[in-house]
Amino acid sequence: MTNNNNANTTPMLKVQGLRAGYGRAEVLHGIDLEAARGSVITVIGPNGAGKSTLLNALMGVLPAQGTLQYDGHDIRTAELETRVMQGMALVPEKRELFGTMTVEDNLELGAFRQVRLRNRQWRERLEEVFALFPRLKERRTQLAGTLSGGERQMLAVGRALMSRPSLLMLDEPSLGLAPLVVKEIFRTIDELRKTGVTILLVEQNARAALEVADYGYVLEMGEISVQGPAAELANDPRVIDTYLGAAKKPSGQAA
Ligand SMILES: Nc1ncnc2c1ncn2[C@@H]1O[C@H](COP(=O)(O)OP(=O)(O)O)[C@@H](O)[C@H]1O
Ligand SMILES: [Mg+2]
Repeated sequence: MTNNNNANTTPMLKVQGLRAGYGRAEVLHGIDLEAARGSVITVIGPNGAGKSTLLNALMGVLPAQGTLQYDGHDIRTAELETRVMQGMALVPEKRELFGTMTVEDNLELGAFRQVRLRNRQWRERLEEVFALFPRLKERRTQLAGTLSGGERQMLAVGRALMSRPSLLMLDEPSLGLAPLVVKEIFRTIDELRKTGVTILLVEQNARAALEVADYGYVLEMGEISVQGPAAELANDPRVIDTYLGAAKKPSGQAA
């Protein structure tokens, strides 16, 4: 799709000096990050750090300053719709499902990119999503508004996958879910990586996020404070103390 000679080494996403916010209130003060093709990267950080603002700026829901490249193209000023057509997908923090529509109808809404591309195979995509989430298949005629929290999250991810994205961005997929359901969601993310899709995962659940990711960034007050391979971050005292809690402290002493 690109005429770049190094198509396979071009990062899927490359961000430099990204600034974004609301009106005059700047929330992101110059973010640098990169996602290699087919990798899972995570941005962890506390409530209010700017994680959702970052994803919304990347998706084009919010205006941004700085360098924003997707698959080697400058997309900083591209419309949301253009970004979707180019293969970006976002599962927003508020899942934004249509509660009075069925599971299957919600999924079909996610296929608009495929329909637009006159890709007749989009119905096969539905079966692929059902294979990934058998629970959604069982409930295909059920109204989305009557699903459990975990099922709603699966539906939101499934709907994003209907567009066959190259870059899937997930905004706190584990938020508000019971531990067992969280496990299932992260298992799904691990499954998804095998399909080759690049994933940008934003999470407050640092432990689970660093387990599934290749590379991680810590976002604090609109700036990246620490970054590195996920396995290294999981052993970094700065990350352990603030985000992983006492369970992993080497001292073994209770607080
Ligand atoms: N629509 C908005 N208007 C104004 N300020 C906002 C809006 N959304 C978020 N903020 C502010 O931006 C900062 C970052 O928020 P957010 O990106 O939602 O953080 P996170 O997702 O990491 O919890 C917070 O101070 C928040 O109050
Ligand atoms: Mg958020």
